[in-house]
Amino acid sequence: MYSQKQQKELIDLTTQLLKRAKSDHLPEKEELDTVADLRNVIRYHDWRYYVQSEAVISDFEYDQLFAWLRKLENKHPEAAAEDSPTQRVALGITKEFPQVSHLVPMLSLDNSYNADDLNDWDNRVRELTGEDEITYCIEPKFDGAGISVIYENDKLIRGATRGDGSVGEDITNNIKVLRSIPLSAKFSSHGIFRIEIRGEALINKKAFKQLNEKRLEEGEPPLANARNSASGGLRQQDPKLVAERKLEAFLYHVSVVQDKNENDLLGVKLHSHSENIDILYSLGFKTPHGELKKVKGIENVIQFCHDFEKRREHLPYEVDGLVIKVDDLNLQRLCGYTSHHPRWAIAFKFAAKQATTKLLKVEFQVGRTGAITPVAKLEPVPLAGVTISSISMFNEDFINEKDIRLGDRVLIERAGEVIPYIVQPVKEARSGHEKKIHFPEECPSCGQPLHKPEGEANWRCVNINCPAQVVERLIHFVSKDAMDIAGFGASTVEEFVNDKLIASIPDIYRLDFSMVLGREGWKEKSVNKLKEAVEKSKSQPLNRLLYGLGIRFVGETTAKKLAEHVSDLDEFREWSMEKFQEVEDIGPKVAQSLFDFFQTESNLKMIDELRATGVNTRHEKKKKAGGGKLDGKTFLFTGTLNMKRSDAEALVEKNGGVILGSVTSKLNYLVVGEDAGSKLDKAKKLGTVQIINEQEFMQLIG
Ligand code: IVH
Repeated sequence: MYSQKQQKELIDLTTQLLKRAKSDHLPEKEELDTVADLRNVIRYHDWRYYVQSEAVISDFEYDQLFAWLRKLENKHPEAAAEDSPTQRVALGITKEFPQVSHLVPMLSLDNSYNADDLNDWDNRVRELTGEDEITYCIEPKFDGAGISVIYENDKLIRGATRGDGSVGEDITNNIKVLRSIPLSAKFSSHGIFRIEIRGEALINKKAFKQLNEKRLEEGEPPLANARNSASGGLRQQDPKLVAERKLEAFLYHVSVVQDKNENDLLGVKLHSHSENIDILYSLGFKTPHGELKKVKGIENVIQFCHDFEKRREHLPYEVDGLVIKVDDLNLQRLCGYTSHHPRWAIAFKFAAKQATTKLLKVEFQVGRTGAITPVAKLEPVPLAGVTISSISMFNEDFINEKDIRLGDRVLIERAGEVIPYIVQPVKEARSGHEKKIHFPEECPSCGQPLHKPEGEANWRCVNINCPAQVVERLIHFVSKDAMDIAGFGASTVEEFVNDKLIASIPDIYRLDFSMVLGREGWKEKSVNKLKEAVEKSKSQPLNRLLYGLGIRFVGETTAKKLAEHVSDLDEFREWSMEKFQEVEDIGPKVAQSLFDFFQTESNLKMIDELRATGVNTRHEKKKKAGGGKLDGKTFLFTGTLNMKRSDAEALVEKNGGVILGSVTSKLNYLVVGEDAGSKLDKAKKLGTVQIINEQEFMQLIG
């Protein structure tokens, strides 16, 4: 796609553009050149990241380039282009996806499971073609959602779901969101006017894991498997939600190719499957390219299939088998199709990662934020290398939607790094003695009535002193990703809480170790080790403490971002809802939870106690070049400013100042723009705050 030389030029151009991104004072004519440059580098970085899976610039830098391009395009509507990278996200909500007919039916594949099946198939192929030995291509069978894309005149004109195979849904706007699919490609250089390409949209394992971590942080139930999440993702009404799922698309089959006069070019201009894949790859598409193996004769196919199955877990995405295809397109034509599948291709399916077992009982666990999770206790069953005896059922809706009953045989699945889950009950195996699962009305730990807040999937125990919650909060605090106190595992926490050695987070640092010594299983050596680990954790960075406090919706990533904005944990006490939302990726829900936490007396008391025991609550901000003019001074902006609020705040921080979220006695300067409201009134009332305008602020920093 890009030669070494082109790549070097594009990377150099990126560096130049990034330098210029800040000071963009260009004559109009040069701006138009910059539009073209920006589009080229963004397309290149999309390709590096989404097709090659390795980024060469940071997300932040990419966003800068993108924002600049959008700004220039707004200024120069005459320079608009359908295939500009900005067109991927500028699309509105789709209420209903229109139905569209596929140019040729999107068929399924016949399956094979062993060497006998493959030998039978090879015999048929040789009979149909009259050849002695066939050259086959073997490639992964991607486990996602089938898609079809059509290009005409080098432009992407339609994207569709598989649907029932003859009629699918027009999801063009959503397909455009997938950056691994080029909006334009030089098919014309191969004499191609119209082409329909088939492929699979999927979520790779890492993106799936991150997506679920984010959902859990935000209190949403995790998506159960990557395949459904891909097909669900493609059909989101809002393209922004499609983008969130980080779908990528592998294209693996050319179904229609025509020249300008609608002459069919398959087998005429294009000769083999492997060549097609090479062409698609060279035009910037994501293809099975790197994983495609070309071999002669079925014996080599069989060998490869068996070797590959052992490596399947190494791939960054889920595969449920391999697909074997006759390479030569003219031989493919001789094989033809049944109404259900091509005769020139077959899927080789790997051993399923599913099993069935009996649901023995359901336990209701109380999480650290009070959410009640139903956990299925199962008759132990081996599944993809581990024994499964317990599986989360997420929430009441999950149980009701699937109609899971006590005593049911259930089909369970474990895909890749994903937690195992119940796919469905085996209704055919019911004896009639299965019982409905009743959700408790009272907390199984403290007995208080449970609540289900509107719009949430989980029942909750709202008693913050609920013993189960206390234990879970402590387990979270000492855990590896939080304060990382080695030797303080879940069972130790439970034991110490039960025996009243600790009852709150600060108690960990006030623990009387002489009381631990002599307890069953505790010797001098292990006690000393624990003491050391507790001591060491006092100097953990602020983001770990923030995460460890277990504030609802605040996961590791959010905690890291938050910590970057303060020099001490106490600053959050002054922050408003709005101020929290100014932090990258923090929305109203998370902001509300943070705001509530830092306005709750008992939480502030806990933080004070932690500090008193010597736990670090400070964050060393990186010293920024040219800073110092506003060292330690506090600022707040209000009203409409000429410059962007975030730029003004960045200036304060760059010069060593601190941004506060509300007007309090700690505030040194209130910078007022037009239409300032209640903040100005409050500052006047306080009398201790210096009220300045934007110009005076600029003078302050010189
Ligand atoms: S070729 C005309 N190649 O598996 C047949 N399909 O179970 C074109 N699939 O409907 C299909 N990986 O959605 C082909 N490398 C691959 C594939 C693949 C996944 C899907 C495809 C198909 C389904 C059949």
